This record gives sequence, C-alpha cells and structure tokens, in this order.
Amino acid sequence: MQDDPRIRIAARTVDRRRPTLWYKDAIIYQTHVRAFFDSNNDGVGDFPGLTEKLDYIEDLGVSAIWLLPFFPSPLKDDGYDISDYCAVNPAYGTLDDFRTFVEAAHARGLRVLIELVVNHTSDQHPWFQRARRAPKGSPERDFYVWSETGHEYDEARIIFIDSEISNWTWDPIAKAYFWHRFYSHQPDLNFDNPLVIREVKNILNFWLDLGVDGFRLDAVPYLIEREGTDGENVPETHRVLKMIRAEVERRNPDCVLLAEANQMPKDTLPYFGNGDECHMAFHFPLMPRMFIAVAQEDSTPIIEVVESTMRLPENCQWAIFLRNHDELTLEMVTEDERDYMWQFYATHRRLRINLGIRRRLATLLDGDCRRIELLNSLLFSMPGTPVLYYGDEIGMGDNPFLGDRDVVRTPMQWSADSNAGFSKADTVALYLPPVMDPLFGYQAVNVEVQKKIRSSLLNWMRWVIRVRNAHQAFGRGDFRFLHPENRKVLAYLRCFGEETILCVANLSETMQAVQLDLSDLAGCIPIDLFGGCLMPVIEAAPYPLTLGGHAFYWLRLLSPEEARSRSDNPQEAMDRPELPAKDRIQGQRPSG
Ligand code: BGC
Repeated sequence: MQDDPRIRIAARTVDRRRPTLWYKDAIIYQTHVRAFFDSNNDGVGDFPGLTEKLDYIEDLGVSAIWLLPFFPSPLKDDGYDISDYCAVNPAYGTLDDFRTFVEAAHARGLRVLIELVVNHTSDQHPWFQRARRAPKGSPERDFYVWSETGHEYDEARIIFIDSEISNWTWDPIAKAYFWHRFYSHQPDLNFDNPLVIREVKNILNFWLDLGVDGFRLDAVPYLIEREGTDGENVPETHRVLKMIRAEVERRNPDCVLLAEANQMPKDTLPYFGNGDECHMAFHFPLMPRMFIAVAQEDSTPIIEVVESTMRLPENCQWAIFLRNHDELTLEMVTEDERDYMWQFYATHRRLRINLGIRRRLATLLDGDCRRIELLNSLLFSMPGTPVLYYGDEIGMGDNPFLGDRDVVRTPMQWSADSNAGFSKADTVALYLPPVMDPLFGYQAVNVEVQKKIRSSLLNWMRWVIRVRNAHQAFGRGDFRFLHPENRKVLAYLRCFGEETILCVANLSETMQAVQLDLSDLAGCIPIDLFGGCLMPVIEAAPYPLTLGGHAFYWLRLLSPEEARSRSDNPQEAMDRPELPAKDRIQGQRPSG
C-alpha cells in the first residue's frame, strides 16, 4: 500500500509546523473503535480492524476521524467513564496498535481527533479511590467535589433525567456526598484544584506526543460549579479552556480543540473566546432546527438560528452535525419545539431518552432517501465543518430494544455475511448485536452492496463529498441568506475569493417555485456543480427557479468574463465518482 502514489501525495498534506486552519476545510468522520471492525474475531472492534478499514474511510473523501473514548474503563457509559487516561482499553488493542493506526491515518492525509473527557472520571479511577480514603481537605481528597449535606448547587439541572435523581451521591467510604453531572458512577473532577489542572496537561501531552491532531472536549460547560448559578458556563470555565489551548498550542499549533457545549446560541459562542479557546464547537443550536425545518417545510427556524450565530473569531469554525452517538438532544429548544419533534420523529416512548430521541438519521427520516439527501446537502453546505456519524453514509438503522444509547451504537454493517461482516465471532460474543430488521438491517443495508450500486446512498455521499472538497467556499466562505417569499425554499450564498456558490434547498415534499433576488449578481451564469449544466443568465429581475420535492441545487455563479472564457468548455462539473472495476456488478458499463 505504501507504493500507492496517492498516499505519498496525501502524506505531504499533513504539515505539523504551523497552524493551517485545516479544520475549516475538513470533513470529520465520527466512529467508535469497538463498532467498526473486529480483526481478531473476539466480538469487539479494535484498532487493527479500524486500520484495516482506513481505505474505506479515505475513499469516502473525509479528512479526519474522531474516535469515541477508547481508554480503560468499566464501560458503564460506553467509555465516557475513564479509569486510566493514558492507555488503550485492552479490548481494543494496545498503545502500539494506536500508534500504528495514527501513522496509517496520517499516511493517507487523515487527521485523528480523540476525546478529552475530564469533567468527570469513572469511580474506579485511582484518583477517586484515593480521594474517598484521603483526609478531608487534603489535595488528594480535593481531586473531586465533596459535600457534607448534598444540598449545595441546587440550581443545577439533572442531565440524565431518566436515570438520576440528584447530582450528589453518598459515598460510604468517604462518608460524604460527591458531585456528578452525569451518572452517579462518574464523579466530577474539581477544577479549582491545581493538581487536577496539572493532570489534564499531562494527559494532553501524552496524546499529543502520540501524534493526535485534535481533542473533542467532552461536557465543557460543567467543568466548574459555583453557588448561586446553574453550574453551566461559569466564567472561570474559560480560564481553564484558555489554559488547555495554550498547552496544546505550545506542543502542536495545528492541533484542534472541539467543544461539546450543548447550550443556547448566546452561551455557545463564548467557547470560542477571542479565538484563544476552542477552535471549533458543535452547532447544537442548529442541529434540531434543521429537523424542525424539514418537518414543518419552513426555512425560518434555520434562518433565525444561523443569523444569531454568525459572528465567530476569524480562526474559529462551527462543527455541524445531524446525528452522533448520543440521543438527538432537545435540551436547548423550547418546550413546544420539543413536543413537536417528539410527535413528529418519535411517537413511540421507546424512541425517547432523557430530553431527546434515540434514533439514527435513516430511521428518523423513515428511510426516505430524498430527505436523507436533502439534510446531508445542508450538512455539507451550511457554514461549518461537517461531522458524519459512522453508518449514516449508508443509511444504517438502529435497534430501539437496546438499552440507553446503545440503540445507535451497533456494529458497522459491512456486508450481508453473518454479523454484518463486522466480526467472525459467535453472535453471542458480539459487544452488541447488529441491526437485523428487514428495512435497515445488515442484509438490506450494507457497504458491500452499496458499493456496487451506482446510485446508492454511499456512492451519492462520495459524490457530494467530492464536490464539497473541490470548493473551499463551503468550508471557508462568507455566508448570506437570500430571503425568498416562498419560505419552503432555503437559499443562501457561499463566497470565497473569486468564487460564489448559490445553494437552494426545497424543504417541501412537493415541487416549489421560487424567485431569488440576485440583482447584485446580474450577468453571472449559474452552473450546476454536479452535472455541469449551464442555467439561464441572472438578470436584474428576480431569478426564477423550480425545484422538485426535497431537491437541492449547488450552483457556482460564473462571472460574465469567466462564462465567456469557458464557453468552449462549460464542463466544470464534478461527475459522479466512477465505481472501481472490482465493485461493479458483473457486465455493467463503467458509466452505469
Ligand atoms: C457524551 C455522552 C456521555 C456524557 C457523560 C457526553 O457529553 O457525549 O455520551 O454519556 O458526556 O460522559
């Protein structure tokens, strides 16, 4: 594989000397080591398995991989309960396997982001075991947050409302209550203790030395608690984040910090600081509003939230996502919006958890390819870096009969072979069963089949990603909404340097006509980024377009001069990527 010239070219693109703002042009693929591929057939995915599947991830066209926690852990919260920060869970391999994985990813030009989960540890972590036995008031005890009464900070809400009744839990060994914002086996670290800060720096440096390119900062709004507040976004949190940023920058100026701050727009923005805290933050305010807009066939929810979250420091960027490993959270919408979302997307109680919906993208959208493509078109063209959850590129399903959020964490569906081609272990040994229902199960939905079908979701995603990658305007461009009268149509411009791209999306199931005010672009000629079709020239009068149900257009606007000079060769299109011969159905022509 090392002889492949593509790999040598890609390897050169990882330049570790100076900040490149690479994350602005990136597409991030989120996966869990244990869910991807099992190389030793013990039923659990592992690093060698993930390394084996890097060709697949590279071929998708993404540029970075974000790994869910893979550290030693009792696994009561799928690894977000860490018992050793500087090691690999033996079920997933060794540190050497991790090193090999990072090298192989870098050789392909793929960056690697990992988790920094330091709001809390597992109660099995040696720090907690030591703290609960240490004398009251000692630095060891004060690694965590303790109380004699369990009544402090009572304005802080409970996050896991389906399983916890308090943020305090009594510890019979310490003979005191300890503070936890999540499960009661996840005591919160005390960020007022300088020794905790020192440990966090050690963790960062440990993984930076192993070559990681970024950290997702888990649960950052809850790092610090203060009486008289709701315990979220406390100002001192930002001191900690600036410290983390400085530490990371000292070691690798190109390393990126991605905040998980599930907050209202005004409370999410401060996580960027003045460009000196997190480089990126998940756009939690936008995510549910994309689903609401499609359900209501109305662009207003998207326009309102994006307009209120536009001003970021130059070097910062939103991370946009549709789904992830957690429930589709509805914590930060109004009660009416939440009820609407539940009624529309999760009528059955089993599909809900805490304040959210535990379903994957394809099942949320009833397997409707047009809506899946429409939402992905927004994911890949709205302002921010797209984050794609593994399996959503093939429309993988979920299993609502599994506990907690395991519903959406089942093995990757590689083929129709037993265990979805994920593992050759006995099915009983799998960490979770693969999805087996007739609509979304692995016999119907899998990589092997979708590779062969030219029009499959997988091949469509490869195409969209290829188009996005060819135009920096999507990652870095300015953003401006057009405000057509027909609110079922969402229209916006992405502009970067000489390039202007017009994106138009029909949120409705039926055909729509729209008139766009493009008078300041009169004389330009739109050209379709997918097929290269030239559209009528834009004039001072409103520009009319019609779109089929749930259709979308990405049109580059050629200036009159450009249009003239290209008239012999109007094909600026990014054709659908051809299927390699090995993936083609026998006897099929290369062009489908
Ligand atoms: C993670 C969850 C996890 C929680 C507690 C969240 O932010 O995304 O999966 O359960 O942190 O660690």
